[in-house]
Amino acid sequence: MDKQLDDICIGMVGLGYVGLPAAIAFAALYDVIGYDIEKQKVDALRKGREGTGEVTEEELANTTCRFTSDPSDLNICDVIIVAVPTPIDKNNRPDLSYLEKATETVASHLKDGAIVVYESTVYPGATEEICIPILERITGFSVGEGFSIGYSPERINPGDKKNTFKTIGKLVAGYDQVTLDTLIALYGSVLEAPVYPVASIKVAEAAKVVENTQRDVNIAYMNELAQLFDKMDIDIFEVLAAAGTKWNFIPFEPGLVGGHCISVDPYYLIEKAKNVGFTPALISTARNQNAKMGKYIVDKITNVANELNLTNRELKVNVLGVTFKENVPDLRNSMAIDIVKLLKEKGIHVHMADPVANEEEVEEMCGEGISAYHELPSADIVLLLVPHNQFTKQPEEYYHAMLKSEQSVIIDLKNRLSIDQWNKKVNYWTL
Ligand SMILES: NC(=O)c1ccc[n+]([C@@H]2O[C@H](COP(=O)([O-])OP(=O)(O)OC[C@H]3O[C@@H](n4cnc5c(N)ncnc54)[C@H](O)[C@@H]3O)[C@@H](O)[C@H]2O)c1
Repeated sequence: MDKQLDDICIGMVGLGYVGLPAAIAFAALYDVIGYDIEKQKVDALRKGREGTGEVTEEELANTTCRFTSDPSDLNICDVIIVAVPTPIDKNNRPDLSYLEKATETVASHLKDGAIVVYESTVYPGATEEICIPILERITGFSVGEGFSIGYSPERINPGDKKNTFKTIGKLVAGYDQVTLDTLIALYGSVLEAPVYPVASIKVAEAAKVVENTQRDVNIAYMNELAQLFDKMDIDIFEVLAAAGTKWNFIPFEPGLVGGHCISVDPYYLIEKAKNVGFTPALISTARNQNAKMGKYIVDKITNVANELNLTNRELKVNVLGVTFKENVPDLRNSMAIDIVKLLKEKGIHVHMADPVANEEEVEEMCGEGISAYHELPSADIVLLLVPHNQFTKQPEEYYHAMLKSEQSVIIDLKNRLSIDQWNKKVNYWTL
């Protein structure tokens, strides 16, 4: 790239949870083209509407970012940042098809000397093994000659208003030193946090999957302990509070691991490990442990039904929260949705409420719509799966009013209701 940084045009490919906030942040200083393959999304963004909750209406209304679904608009970009999905397929193997297609598009519209930066999460080696060959084949140039490459994994935490694109320190890697220096300057100009240069693209790719896999492994340990202590009638949250008084105890909690990152990225590492002839036993066991949590919760519910002398068909469950985590509308790989499906398969009546989820999306996934959270009927079990703020700030009366009888049970999966401070006692279970 020969130009001064001030004059460059940046293309953002993929305007979702990662790409949109980044495009808007860059647009405060640079000319930015925001490209997404989904025309409907682009039309909505042009009208100031978006569905991730990661940018404000005001930011969207004031941005100079030009939203487009025409890939030829990328022709003028000096730097193209790719933030498209990298999910897993039905066999839990990496699905790189979005990344490959996006790379083909970028390659077909790549300006001479441009830098392509990947932010999508991949296994170590994917950028060089998968993306560079596509770019070289379509542009007819070799990397380092006609174009260059960088990798900068995104670390945003959806729903977190403190740790955002601008305030999280960012790793950057470049194909060569010139590219690395350009990317350090580029990201450094929009971030309020440090930019950390990394020795190679592979190291940056590995760092990202390692960060998320570490969380998966630690949560799996908590989930195992939760199941053990449940059998021993020991409250795991009391144990964690006690253990947490030690200076080097790491605070993790049991819970459902879903979403687009923590429940997916370890499979990328597992796949790559297998390809190089290594069996990552710990990572695989932890992933399986977390993937089984939905079944564990459903078994717990059927046990409660037995204790209440109710058959599955008689049991009524109100599910509060169906997204993959609290205060975000993202339904991808939501374990709450898996739990709803498993309950319905068992013939259990389920009413769902979720004030932040998209109603149509939930209906499409579960074959049933959601109710307003203050209009739920009474139930034998109130299952607070995803503690959105709207649920946790309700007074205790909200929960009492939903319970069908004195025997009915509140399941507060993540221990977010302070029921020890409630005036009226209830049957209660938490992980
Ligand atoms: N969501 C997160 O919290 C998070 C955090 C860190 C990293 N990541 C990683 O970032 C990447 C993107 O994740 P996301 O959550 O933003 O996904 P997303 O689904 O919210 O957004 C991706 C966007 O890319 C678009 N897209 C798909 N194919 C395209 C193509 N060929 N050309 C142009 N646009 C295309 C989709 O229409 C969508 O709007 C993934 O690799 C993910 O693992 C996500």
